[in-house]
Amino acid sequence: MTATIRSICCIGAGYVGGPTMAVIADRCPQIQVTVVDLNAERIAAWNDADLSRLPVYEPGLDAVVGRCRGRNLHFSTAVEAAIAAADMVFLSVNTPTKTRGVGAGQASDLRWIEASARQVAACAQNHTIVVEKSTLPVRTAATIQAILGASRDKSFSVLSNPEFLAEGTAIQDLEHPDRVLIGGEDPAAIDALAAIYSQWVPAERILRTNLWSSELSKLTANCFLAERISSINSIAAVCEATGADVQEVARAIGADSRIGAKFLKAGPGFGGSCFQKDVLNLVYLCGHYGLHEVAAYWQRVVDLNAWQQHRIAQLVVQRLFGTVTAKRIAVLGFAFKADTNDTREAPAIRICRDLLEEGAQLAIHDPKVSEAQIAADLGRDGVGSWQRVESPIAAAEGADAVLILTEWQQYAELDWPALAAVMRQPAWLFDARAIADAPRARAAGLQVWRVGRG
Ligand code: NAD
Ligand code: UGA
Repeated sequence: MTATIRSICCIGAGYVGGPTMAVIADRCPQIQVTVVDLNAERIAAWNDADLSRLPVYEPGLDAVVGRCRGRNLHFSTAVEAAIAAADMVFLSVNTPTKTRGVGAGQASDLRWIEASARQVAACAQNHTIVVEKSTLPVRTAATIQAILGASRDKSFSVLSNPEFLAEGTAIQDLEHPDRVLIGGEDPAAIDALAAIYSQWVPAERILRTNLWSSELSKLTANCFLAERISSINSIAAVCEATGADVQEVARAIGADSRIGAKFLKAGPGFGGSCFQKDVLNLVYLCGHYGLHEVAAYWQRVVDLNAWQQHRIAQLVVQRLFGTVTAKRIAVLGFAFKADTNDTREAPAIRICRDLLEEGAQLAIHDPKVSEAQIAADLGRDGVGSWQRVESPIAAAEGADAVLILTEWQQYAELDWPALAAVMRQPAWLFDARAIADAPRARAAGLQVWRVGRG
């Protein structure tokens, strides 16, 4: 018989935990959902009466939270009480790349997963289904099972249920997922979780696998997506060298149904908290299992990405007569992609750092990223300097170049005659996202470089 879940606890109120639980609460009003976090400031922001101040910016999230919060969706720092009350606990904590010790720079740091598993072991009552929502190395479920198994008076089932949402489209991805993946060994627990999703996801989209396939499928999906971006960026460089146009090449190859049209936009390289982390995690796992050729294959995806970012910084310097020292450059976009305030691993960080190292004065605009966040990412040391400005026109004032690094829709609609009028001539537009109206910029007197256009 399928256990009926009445109470869910989610440990981790981040980019995944918050939106995922909000959608579950919205679609399952009969279930009480409590999202807990150690970070009291983050929880307070989730509880802010002003829905425009939620800690995660996602189109549509405010409406979902507005419908459920206080009804069956709760945000709290009372971790132990929420675990004790739950039939099902999601682990949605951060799993960044280790920075020290064995595997530093590649392996995932599992200290938060382990800590939350120990909390579940200590606080759970009755039988509890524990769901891995975080992205984890293959066989982490065995570690979690071992930790939980040490509490002899309690019983647990561990499931893997990786999350495939992309930031900026999280609500849409959660409400209409291509698939939901559930890995596990306990059919009753799998049924219980499937029953939750079946409230809004068609049955044929709920896939069941064993635990290890589920854990590996999540890493593999991100590795394939990251590889596609490195592939198209490598071709962008060939286009620039040969006179081909990467947008035309992408359209031509994307028309082949075996290749498909999505995820073929050349740009400043992939950012975000996960692609690099997950590829490196696979590289580490392959090394661990002695699969060194496989590890080297995937490592190149990350190397090409870093190369693309340094390449863009270098070509800006080259085009600006070989020096940007004391030159003002308008940087448009700091988030790792449009429609998010997230800057983790944003291409802008590496590119701005390179330009600062060359002595540039950056005027940075982003509609959603705060000055404090940019300061955390760039610091204040170094040769050049940066300031955050409120509008693209303020950024362009006195600048030798505009450099577009995030594909915010407003950058597609820039008033180039107005921008050109306040820039220092000769002036450049470097469009690393191929989003600007290049003919208008050219007509306004700017020289234009666009990624992947020879
Ligand atoms: P995040 O850093 O935004 O949120 C994680 C939260 O967990 C933090 O607020 C942290 O304070 C909290 N936390 C850590 N340990 C805790 C503990 N013991 N008790 C209570 N709270 C604790 O991370 P995220 O972006 O939400 O990612 C979470 C996981 O989901 C990662 O494994 C990531 O790879 C995966 N993932 C992320 C995305 C994405 O788009 N961000 C998409 C799919 C999967
Ligand atoms: C990605 C995956 O798309 C999600 O399925 C996955 O759940 C998530 O990682 C995760 O595990 O964290 P996300 O990083 O939020 O989602 O955003 P993407 O839309 O995948 O973009 C990642 C990066 O690739 C961005 O910097 C984006 O600008 C870049 N990108 C994307 C391109 O340069 N070209 C493209 O064609 C697509």
